[in-house]
Amino acid sequence: MTEEGHAVATRRLFFALWPSAELAAGLAAIAAAGAQRFAGRASRRETLHLTLAFLGEVAIADLPALLAAAGRVRSGPFRLQVDRFGFWRRNRLLWAGCAPSPGLDALVAELGAALAAAGISWPDQQRAFTPHLTLARKLPASTPADEVERISCAGLPAWPCTHFVLVASSLSAAGPFYSPLAEFPLTA
Ligand code: 2AM
Repeated sequence: MTEEGHAVATRRLFFALWPSAELAAGLAAIAAAGAQRFAGRASRRETLHLTLAFLGEVAIADLPALLAAAGRVRSGPFRLQVDRFGFWRRNRLLWAGCAPSPGLDALVAELGAALAAAGISWPDQQRAFTPHLTLARKLPASTPADEVERISCAGLPAWPCTHFVLVASSLSAAGPFYSPLAEFPLTA
């Protein structure tokens, strides 16, 4: 709301890395099998991503400042490798994780610094970054985490990261729908 009581137009936004079609297909197959085996709801192939920073509802009027801040990020390209799966009981997620990546850590730090310097705040600003791709939701709390951790990552291609994206999220009964708004190259 503005001081005059008008509703402020907002979009639900986040910054993310989007996998190649080949990696997304491999992960979607694992998501489908995992959702079936553990009775969860698989993420749709086209929605698979790794979130760098979830911003929540952002006023449309603040978009230019957000785009400018992300455009000031100077971070080089890097390669990720999905090499683990896990289950978080607290939010009942089946997720895929990556081998540690100094390049990814540098990007997240750079992006955080650029947003903070522009006076932009976001909900998880103070929380440690836990890189993951959500493969399935709403698994039973009783899901055996050790079985999830034994899922094989064999055959998943490497993930060369050359840009990151700003994405708008719309929630629906069929799950979230994501629209890319802008792309930022990774150039140190
Ligand atoms: P998740 O997959 O672990 O739920 C879009 O919703 C993306 O932002 C998802 O990757 C989601 O992570 C992430 N995210 C982080 N914090 C969030 C929050 N408080 N609400 C919704 N999504 C959040």
